[in-house]
Amino acid sequence: MEVTILLGSPHLNGNTAALAAGFSDGAKMAGANVVRIDVDQLGVSPVDAKLLKRLEAGENVDADGMDRVIDRLLASDVVVFATPLYYYGMSAQLKIVLDRFLARNGELQQHPARLVLLATSAGPGEEAMRPMIDQMRLVCGYLNWTYAGEVLATGLAVEHLGKARREAAKTFAEKLLKAN
Ligand SMILES: Cc1cc2nc3c(=O)[nH]c(=O)nc-3n(C[C@H](O)[C@H](O)[C@H](O)COP(=O)(O)O)c2cc1C
Repeated sequence: MEVTILLGSPHLNGNTAALAAGFSDGAKMAGANVVRIDVDQLGVSPVDAKLLKRLEAGENVDADGMDRVIDRLLASDVVVFATPLYYYGMSAQLKIVLDRFLARNGELQQHPARLVLLATSAGPGEEAMRPMIDQMRLVCGYLNWTYAGEVLATGLAVEHLGKARREAAKTFAEKLLKAN
């Protein structure tokens, strides 16, 4: 099993990274190979007018590093979107990468994968994550992927993500990957 974690936080050792580490531990326990991509470090362009024009002209727009991301996703059984909650959505960095699926939608739609959402927030309520969960479900429908669920860590304004939440992500990953 191949697992790819798209880490959407600018903090490479923050709350989201800790939740992702828990998931990674569980996936490895289940025998998976796990690759984490720090999307904040990629420096790929957003979808702007220039990129769309190049895409329409049939150019390869993914040479800025996006090609390696998509190649890795096409080799993955499980794709994890790991993000801090930013104004009721995923981080801009992660959304840029999602938007950049555009050039290779067709290939991604032909490749069945399971998608997991890992998300952290300062506020206490899980309902604030609802729009992001809905978005992930709809993206899965569009890509012919399967939404495999989420691990949410809320209320982190008062404390950093601790062992219990990390364990929850680990258990979730172990169950998910052992089942298949
Ligand atoms: C720009 C920005 C927007 C945020 N928006 C929200 C929000 O809408 N709701 C919330 O509960 N926390 C919000 N937060 C807090 C983060 O989601 C939270 O601190 C998260 O655990 C940070 O993860 P990290 O350590 O990986 O950066 C926001 C933080 C930032 C920097």
